[in-house]
Amino acid sequence: MPSSSSVEISEPPAPASGEPGRKGRLLIVDDEDGPRQSLRVIFKDDYEILMAADGPSAIELVQNNQIDVALVDIRMAGMSGIEVLERLKYVEPSMEVIMMTAFETTDTIRQALRLRACDYINKPFDISTMRAAVANAMQRHTLEGEIHTNAEKLQGLLSELQDQKIEEQMAHTRGEIYASIIHDINGPLTVISGFVQLLNQRIGDSTRLEVEDLEFIKDRLRTITRQVTNCIEISRRYLGFLRRQSDDIPRVGINQLLTDLTHLIRVHPSRLNHQFTIQPLPEDIAVRMNGTDVVQVLLNLVVNAFQCSPHSHAVAIECRVLPQPLDLAGFKDGPEARLLNVENFQNNPPLLMVSVRDTGPGIPPEILPKIFQPYFSTKGPRLGTGLGLNIVQRLVKEAKGALHVHTQPGHGTTFTMYLTAVSLPTPS
Ligand SMILES: Nc1ncnc2c1ncn2[C@@H]1O[C@H](COP(=O)(O)OP(=O)(O)O)[C@@H](O)[C@H]1O
Ligand SMILES: [Mg+2]
Repeated sequence: MPSSSSVEISEPPAPASGEPGRKGRLLIVDDEDGPRQSLRVIFKDDYEILMAADGPSAIELVQNNQIDVALVDIRMAGMSGIEVLERLKYVEPSMEVIMMTAFETTDTIRQALRLRACDYINKPFDISTMRAAVANAMQRHTLEGEIHTNAEKLQGLLSELQDQKIEEQMAHTRGEIYASIIHDINGPLTVISGFVQLLNQRIGDSTRLEVEDLEFIKDRLRTITRQVTNCIEISRRYLGFLRRQSDDIPRVGINQLLTDLTHLIRVHPSRLNHQFTIQPLPEDIAVRMNGTDVVQVLLNLVVNAFQCSPHSHAVAIECRVLPQPLDLAGFKDGPEARLLNVENFQNNPPLLMVSVRDTGPGIPPEILPKIFQPYFSTKGPRLGTGLGLNIVQRLVKEAKGALHVHTQPGHGTTFTMYLTAVSLPTPS
């Protein structure tokens, strides 16, 4: 039984869930027993009825039962009908409330409508008007529920689609990296093939080799061996990239990755005549991030830096190893700066800091909060997908790194990634 003695329930309450096909649930709130009972008689065959004789009991019922529509007397002793309406809407905003009015001023009625009462009915009421008002409110509540459910479903579908698009985009960039592997291996293979042909020509059909032939062969074989080793190195490195187990992150030095990046950038169409420099580390070090991901992050940042203006400007990559944890309190988000992934950041030194700096136009303060959103782009549809920075942010987050952006409109922008660094295994 409910704790309050002023609560009367004509039937045991049904489970508080919006199960389809259940009867609508109507709450009658009136401090006079007569009207309460007559309303119950009118509606008892159509709806499940709950009744309350005052505001606090009504609020308790709404908290514990899923009620579709409430009929509230505007004039009650104790908590006024207007106050009850306000609180009911606070507890259950989707519930429809019909006010029963007597001789209220239009001001009071206006106030009720402002508080999102859906209707009002003058007392004494005629039964058909009352029935129509409640039926309307029930229908409206069902419709709004359906709209809400559909909107949620749509939102779910949209985010699924977005995830898929991002996966596609990542696969696309990975494809660009594969293309560069083939390109890298193609170079040595061409050299090898040319040298093998030369050897074949030199040896021809001869059955005896002169001393100078032997010298020639030895020299060419040395070159071939070097190129074969080169091929094996390239494939080993990229095969390492492709393994994605987090406990077995391949240890590829950042300087090595920067060399790979240079190859990709050299042929990139957005390079134009921008100045591009890379300052590697004096001593190579590895990071706790998959090698392909490092290349992918830097490629996105560098391409953005190239594309931020068609006028020739400078783009530079700089690396530094920090022996201390980052002083996170020293970073302040504002119109010119943002720090991402503070929550998951593994701030354990040594940290590798890699920054991509450009002397382009910078990012206006109204744009800065949006740049990491998927599909946000200020470029035309042919240049921008708006996914680049979203991918960058995801990859940095996956590696438990942090990402900082600092921009000065008119002067340029710097994106900085901080990652846990690990020393490279000594070559055996
Ligand atoms: N270095 C930069 N300088 C100025 N604006 C930038 C820079 N990098 C990113 N932006 C802004 O962030 C937006 C989103 O970047 P991104 O997610 O890579 O998508 P896209 O490059 O496809 O537009 C860009 O359209 C641009 O407005
Ligand atoms: Mg981009």
